[in-house]
Amino acid sequence: MQKKLLIILAVNLWAGALFGQAPDTLWLADLDLSQMEIGWGEPHANRSIEGKTITINGRIFEHGVGTHAVSYYAINLDGEAERFKAMVGVDDDANQQRPSIQFLVHADRRQVFKSPILHFREAAFPVEVDLQGVKLLELMVEDGGDGIGWDHADWADAFILYRGVKPTARVTPKPEPYVLTPSPRPEPRINGARIYGGRPGRPFLYRIPATGERPMKFSASGLPAGLELDGNSGIISGKADAKGTYPVTLTAANRLGAATLLFKIVIGDQIALTPPLGWNSWNCFACAVDDRQVRSAAQALIASGLADHGWSYINIDDCWAIKPGDADPGLGGRERDSQGRIRTNAKFPDMRALTDYIHGLGLKTGIYSSPGPLTCAGYAASYQHEEQDALQFAEWGFDYLKYDWCSYGEIARQPSLEDYQKPYHVMRAALDRADRDIVFSLCQYGMGEVWKWGAEVGGNSWRTTGDIVDSWSSMSGIGFSQAGHEWHAGPGHWNDPDMLVVGYVGWGPNLHPTRLTADEQYTHITLWSLLASPLLIGCDLTRLDAFTLNLLTNDEVLAVNQDPLGVQASRVKQHGGVEVWVKKMEDGSLAVGLFNPNREKSVVSVDWNSLGISGGQTVRDLWRQKDLGVYRDRFSREVPAHGACLVLLRQI
Ligand code: GLA
Repeated sequence: MQKKLLIILAVNLWAGALFGQAPDTLWLADLDLSQMEIGWGEPHANRSIEGKTITINGRIFEHGVGTHAVSYYAINLDGEAERFKAMVGVDDDANQQRPSIQFLVHADRRQVFKSPILHFREAAFPVEVDLQGVKLLELMVEDGGDGIGWDHADWADAFILYRGVKPTARVTPKPEPYVLTPSPRPEPRINGARIYGGRPGRPFLYRIPATGERPMKFSASGLPAGLELDGNSGIISGKADAKGTYPVTLTAANRLGAATLLFKIVIGDQIALTPPLGWNSWNCFACAVDDRQVRSAAQALIASGLADHGWSYINIDDCWAIKPGDADPGLGGRERDSQGRIRTNAKFPDMRALTDYIHGLGLKTGIYSSPGPLTCAGYAASYQHEEQDALQFAEWGFDYLKYDWCSYGEIARQPSLEDYQKPYHVMRAALDRADRDIVFSLCQYGMGEVWKWGAEVGGNSWRTTGDIVDSWSSMSGIGFSQAGHEWHAGPGHWNDPDMLVVGYVGWGPNLHPTRLTADEQYTHITLWSLLASPLLIGCDLTRLDAFTLNLLTNDEVLAVNQDPLGVQASRVKQHGGVEVWVKKMEDGSLAVGLFNPNREKSVVSVDWNSLGISGGQTVRDLWRQKDLGVYRDRFSREVPAHGACLVLLRQI
């Protein structure tokens, strides 16, 4: 440390000698770091991203800023600063994983420094930038081209030598959220999927999602034998024994009129014929989840009106079981009872009562486990109890199982393809013995290119990536890297690029409004809809703000996700930083997403020939639910920074 101070002193003296007066030193860590954009976590002054001593390849630094790719930080200068210096690299707390990061510095929008791509356990790389005459200094950390996983980045010993006005962090005002979806009309409208599958002889539950003034009366013609509709609540339930495709006409009526929908019920071997829509506890409450919150989420799904747009699953994630070895008597204790049945912790006193409550609202509900002995958060899981657990989940009344690899990594240490598949085959067979339709959601972060075999092992969906967080680089990095997976998705089996990070999120107990801007959230929902991804809201539904509710209740956007053809969008253009994705719809129309991942607004255009179409097309803006007119040959739009535009093209 003393050596470092001497060096700084020497630089100051040298500069002082040159200009007659020594410049001042400002450590980067002493600036307002809350203005730093970051891909995961929070930036830390004089600590690594995980709050430890900054260490690069064993070398310890007392000063610096620990951040995470993708990161961006802008600093105002007055043209009289002299120099920026730092040592940069991957922090040792990235812990053997395979991060790769690149540091860039821009001075007045010109690149003046670019590090090589740096990896774990590589020596710190020196940065020295001349700032004479510069007014804006930008410090960036990019992800090295392979996503942001474990990209723990340090600006170690980073400081600015300046003479005039003390440099300050540039404050980027967060743009006000703006609402695009028109409010639902008071006349009845039936929303949600147009097809729904169930297996013969299994409990069937479907709440007709309809907007419009209440009271509303529902009726249905053509229901398979064994199913009944409650005309007041719009809930269809029962058991249908005969396989077949049943065209059903659903009607919703109120004092202002009636709406009908041609709906198909398919009693057969497949469920999840469209991607599941619902809520999951993880991105908001994580391990702070309890029975009360899950009930409140179910209530809120109804009270907010979300359920009237097709949102129907209420899923409990990790942390409902016993946590072996935990000193808290409410969490620790015996994992299983004398008959080997898995036990809940005290936060979930009666699972059956909870699922009954949720089913009573016409909603479905999910649970979580791991094929390993423990879940990711260290709670008891299903290893060597798979069949018993599957039957237990069915007996409790669950309709969805997220099955998360986690500690199975200790069972299969260097997994072959067969090892990756094995635990999912085992649980599939167990679920097949249960007397319920249970959506089987594989969670193993994309290992072994799961999209190629997820359907083969009986998954209804499979996570294709690591965990999402509420940052632009996490969300957009995951979303835009789904190109190429579309060939493996279809009705009953979906790619899952992880849950939504809109609204109040925070991985509990403390929540914060998502850090995504409004435009970033439009990108998120547009992209996930085009990708035909399961949509699981990850926020506290009891604290839904008007913007978030509006974002999640656009029936024309959700119809893209729920289209019965079940095609996942393909990327047809990636040029000049902008992207165009297209999804073929059942009726022959095309849903087209125009995306602008750039930091500045850009014009995004799409040529008909890149879409394989020609001639006049009507173009409808789905977010605004507004026809834009007839276009020939191409369509262009100015799209805000990090924003999206979603249109539907229909041949005239
Ligand atoms: C993993 C999963 C997350 C969540 C947690 C629970 O990280 O990817 O979605 O389920 O486990 O511990």
